[in-house]
Amino acid sequence: MTPMTVETQPIEGQKPGTSGLRKKTRVFMGPHYLENFVQAIWAGAGGVRGKTLVLGGDGRYFNDRAAQVILRMAAASGAAKVIVGQNAILSTPAASNLIRSRGTDGGIIMSASHNPGGPEEDFGVKFNTPNGGPAPEEVTNRIFEATKTVTSYDILESQDIDLTRPGTTALGSMEIEVVDPVTDYAALMETLFDFDRIRDHLKGGFRVVFDAMHAVTGPYAAEILIKRLGAGGDAVRNAVPSPDFGGGHPDPNPIWAKPLVDLVMGPDAPDFAAASDGDGDRNMILGRGIYVTPSDSLAVLAANAHLAPGYAGGLAGVARSMPTSRALDRVAEAKGLSCYETPTGWKFFGNLLDAGKITLCGEESAGTGSDHVREKDGLWAVLLWLNILAVRGESVADILKGHWAEYGRNYYSRHDFEGVDADAANAMMEGLIARLPGLEGETVAGRKIEMAEEFAYDDPVDGSRSEHQGVRIGFEGGGRVVFRLSGTGTVGATLRVYLEDVETDAGALGRDPQEALAGMIDAAETLAGIRAATGRDAPDVIT
Ligand code: G1P
Ligand code: ZN
Repeated sequence: MTPMTVETQPIEGQKPGTSGLRKKTRVFMGPHYLENFVQAIWAGAGGVRGKTLVLGGDGRYFNDRAAQVILRMAAASGAAKVIVGQNAILSTPAASNLIRSRGTDGGIIMSASHNPGGPEEDFGVKFNTPNGGPAPEEVTNRIFEATKTVTSYDILESQDIDLTRPGTTALGSMEIEVVDPVTDYAALMETLFDFDRIRDHLKGGFRVVFDAMHAVTGPYAAEILIKRLGAGGDAVRNAVPSPDFGGGHPDPNPIWAKPLVDLVMGPDAPDFAAASDGDGDRNMILGRGIYVTPSDSLAVLAANAHLAPGYAGGLAGVARSMPTSRALDRVAEAKGLSCYETPTGWKFFGNLLDAGKITLCGEESAGTGSDHVREKDGLWAVLLWLNILAVRGESVADILKGHWAEYGRNYYSRHDFEGVDADAANAMMEGLIARLPGLEGETVAGRKIEMAEEFAYDDPVDGSRSEHQGVRIGFEGGGRVVFRLSGTGTVGATLRVYLEDVETDAGALGRDPQEALAGMIDAAETLAGIRAATGRDAPDVIT
């Protein structure tokens, strides 16, 4: 088996976004597309000679083929070893865990997260560094630069490698270790949570339903919830991963996981329900008759994490992405914890976690996690909730209401305008940015503006600066509107408008969020002219 050097040319547009490179699957399947990008990853990582990597993905269409290509390329470039999930499958948090626990030099995760899968849908490739987290901008910039100059890549000619059974094989002089994707992850969860207590709570009649959305968490949830915690056999739904996620969007929110929301709002509601996304890093939390927004979930977890053994010593600090509601900040203030505000994207939490400045962090986009790995982690959030519920013995709704009564409620919603014309969306953002300096002190939709700026982040650990991270406009009384363009979409532009308003009046904590946010929704339209720019009367998705 001799390595071949294949001539190629740079392909335009291989710029990693919020979370790796995401494109239409057909684009990734095009000549040299995947290979060019993988070669650029090697360059961005400073080469792979002698290194050990982890490889896995969410099982979407092309996952298996891409894995074979990446293995051949790693072998041809002199990698010492690749640890691969069985059938090339690993959830994103499980991959992060393996990268860390095996002391490797990083890994490649094949996923487009919650985007649909299939030949006409999306695919993605992401590089994680030795800390187990998504590569920071410095590395993704190097990767992007390399995609612009790549002229050849190295690949081994060989038959497909059998990834169907755990064990060790060789490809040229590179070792390949195929591992069960669930075992190490489940063991890690047992170190963080009181499995006995959760098991007893479930035995006592507390009913749990988890929707794996035909995606990667099926086998993880079956092992942990059913086998180890004794939830009934019907507790895990849509548990078999499929390459096109059953034709749906594996996105755990009230739109794409509507059947689960209907279930908890209906007569046969379980006590607790949850869902996760394509690659297992997102979560949605529901209780009987109630949906918990990700921002509220993060705040509740921060307030109660000490009830789980892994966090009994308290939290070092917490962090949230800028658009995430400031419900977390209220908990941090009450508990005397540092609370950091980072740009959108998990990669910005990595330094804070590595430096021990924070223990818990999250994003409004259904991502919550802790220092146990360097990715957000859907099942981890489910287990932390279950541990808290088992200890407190209250319902999800009572815990949430109690939380609002204690800390106040940050009404919150995100309005997405999808697939809009990219030029129009950019022009709208530029127009808004140009007007920012004059907005302070103005009154819009009856509310006075206290601050208006484009968010930039100075990393407190390595001093790096990230600019142009969204527009935020703060109003008197705690109202806030944030505008951002998505960095994960594959078609046109997606405008995200994040709306928040604070309520501390005990009699007004149970309102419908869209109604409670009507003033901020008006303000957003007045400030940005969303309708005119997008040509839409209403958002495509409201979460
Ligand atoms: C979206 C979310 C963001 C998350 C990312 C990856 O990015 O908004 O919070 O980190 O997916 O899961 P966006 O499309 O907004 O750039
Ligand atoms: Zn995901």
